[in-house]
Amino acid sequence: MMKTASVIGLGIMGSTLARLLLKAGYRVTVWNRTPGKADALVTAGALLAATPEEAVAAGDFVVICVYDYRASEEILRNAAVEAVLPGRTLIQLTTGSPKEAQASEAWAHAHGARYLDGGIQAAPEQMGDPSTTILLSGASDAFRDSEDLLKLFGGNLAYLGVEIGRASAMDLATLSYVYGATLGFFHGALVAENAGIPLGRYGDIVREIGPGFGEFFRHEGAVLESGDFTISQSPMGISIEATQRILDAARESGLNPRFPAFAAEYFREAKERGLAEKEVAALIEIFRSPAPARR
Ligand SMILES: NC(=O)c1ccc[n+]([C@@H]2O[C@H](COP(=O)([O-])OP(=O)(O)OC[C@H]3O[C@@H](n4cnc5c(N)ncnc54)[C@H](OP(=O)(O)O)[C@@H]3O)[C@@H](O)[C@H]2O)c1
Repeated sequence: MMKTASVIGLGIMGSTLARLLLKAGYRVTVWNRTPGKADALVTAGALLAATPEEAVAAGDFVVICVYDYRASEEILRNAAVEAVLPGRTLIQLTTGSPKEAQASEAWAHAHGARYLDGGIQAAPEQMGDPSTTILLSGASDAFRDSEDLLKLFGGNLAYLGVEIGRASAMDLATLSYVYGATLGFFHGALVAENAGIPLGRYGDIVREIGPGFGEFFRHEGAVLESGDFTISQSPMGISIEATQRILDAARESGLNPRFPAFAAEYFREAKERGLAEKEVAALIEIFRSPAPARR
């Protein structure tokens, strides 16, 4: 018996997921609001459903990956889909918030479906790699039974437990880290450009130092969990100096100081609070302070 899966949403990510399922020998049924986007997949062997309910009815596993939860709800929350949901496993790979995941799980369970929520931590071209991470939460039996299918999308499945909001909470956490680094990346690009360094070379070097910084943050995560801020790898003082140096250099070079001023402010506050002789992870105390009044 062929394994059956349906994919709803054929944007750049959903199409990639459908292609991976086809490659693995699943009988794949697809549906997209704009049906023309299914053409290449149909040529590759997918079946095109005329309606979302037809797609849901065709797969034991139903993967949905659309722009946002609003789109997901527009597609799924109707009597025709609800009538064919019992017994299916709905795998929600649309990015959303913990609250949206909770509401979506409650709806799916109320209509007899199993439900998993996932946060894809990679770009479409990285899907299917053994190292690609997908965050998951939801009932453990649903996860266990979906594991083989999910591993086709990414070899590193980070299952965060039964509480359905956890995958999207972790997605918010990892994206917070990514966007902090993104702001720094663009300021760094100005610094490199100002020094006449080709920005492609800058991108290469950022990639090369990436794994080392991954290890560094893993260490700092363990320090945060232990609550022991005795210096072990990176004294706060180094970061206080570094962020001030970056700010001073930006001002001297006439670069927009907005980002380095923002970063240096956190470390200046850490110095004022007497944290200079601690491991850099003690910066969490500044983050834990009540937010200042909005300017
Ligand atoms: N691309 C990435 O790098 C990446 C990485 C991680 C996570 N994700 C997540 O994956 C999800 C899909 O991303 P994507 O890159 O595939 O986006 P995309 O290429 O913009 O595709 C969006 C999809 O949503 C559908 N859609 C939007 N509004 C709709 C509505 N009101 N009703 C029905 N369908 C609607 C689109 O249908 P039409 O074709 O008809 O417009 C299309 O299938 C997002 O939640 C995104 O955050 C993406």
